[in-house]
Amino acid sequence: MELKGKVALVTGGGRGIGQGIALALAGAGADVAVADLDLAIAEETAAKVEAVGRRSVAISVNVAQPDSVRAMVEKVEAELGGLDIAVNNAGIISIQSIEELTAEDFDRIMAVNAKGVFLCTQAAVRVMRPRRWGRIINVASIAGKIGFPDLSHYTASKFAVIGFTNAVAKEVALDGITVNALCPGIVGTGMWRGEDGLAGRWREEGESEEASWARHQKTLLPQGVAQTPEDMGQLAVYLACAEHVTGQAIAVDGGCTL
Ligand code: NAI
Repeated sequence: MELKGKVALVTGGGRGIGQGIALALAGAGADVAVADLDLAIAEETAAKVEAVGRRSVAISVNVAQPDSVRAMVEKVEAELGGLDIAVNNAGIISIQSIEELTAEDFDRIMAVNAKGVFLCTQAAVRVMRPRRWGRIINVASIAGKIGFPDLSHYTASKFAVIGFTNAVAKEVALDGITVNALCPGIVGTGMWRGEDGLAGRWREEGESEEASWARHQKTLLPQGVAQTPEDMGQLAVYLACAEHVTGQAIAVDGGCTL
C-alpha cells in the first residue's frame, strides 16, 4: 500500500491513537499534518513524521470551533499543497451515570466528538470534491456499535459519528471520496491509563490501576489483550488506499463487538 504524493491530516494527532495513525500514514509515504488542541504535542508528532522522511506541519486546532477548523484546513493546503486524506480522530470522554450527567457535560462531549467530526468532514469535502478524490476516516469507537454504562453521552456521540459517516459516504460517493468510520476497541492511551483514565476510574475496592487495566482487557475482549495505536494505523492506511470501501464502520477490537 502506497500513499506517496498524498497529503494527510490527523486531528488529535499529538498522542495516542492519532499519533499511531499519523506515523502509519507517514510510513506508507504520505506527508502528514498533525493538528491538536495541544500544539506542543502536535509538534512532537510532526517531528516524528519528519524523522521518517515525510513533510509535516503542526497545527493548533479546536475541532469544536468552525473558524479554527477552517483555518486548520487552509494551513494544511498552504503548507503541504493539498488535502487528500482527513483523519478525524480528536475525541474526549468522561464517566457519568445518567443521573449525574449534566446538560453541559453532554454538550461538551457532543461538541468535540460529533460536531467536531462534522466540521472537519465538511471542511475536507469542500476541498476534496472539486478534485474528485479524497479519503475521510472518522474515528468512532466500539461505543458507536454497543452501549456502555456510565458512558451514555460518549456512546451517543460515537453512534452519531457512525450514522453521519454512512450518510456522507452516500452523498459524495460519485466524487471519488470514501468516508469510513474506524472503531477502536480498547487502546492503552491517556483515555484508559492513569488515575483519571477509564482503568483508574473503574477500579474495584483495593484494586490497583494496573490490575484494573488487566481485568478490563480480559473481561471486555475475547482476545484478552488491548489493541495498539499501530493496529489503528494499519486500518487507516488500508482505508486511505481502498477505492471501493465506503460508508463502513470497521472495528479493530479483538472481537469485543462480535
Ligand atoms: P487521547 O486522549 O490519548 O488523545 C486524544 C487527543 O485529542 C489528544 O491529543 C487531545 O489533545 C486531542 N483533543 C482533545 N480535544 C480536542 C479538540 N477539541 N480539538 C483538537 N484536539 C483535541 O485519546 P485516544 O485514546 O488516542 O483517542 C483518540 C480517538 O479514539 C478518540 O476519538 C477516542 O474517542 C477514540 N477511541 C479511543 C479508544 C481507546 O481505547 N483509547 C477506544 C475507542 C475509541
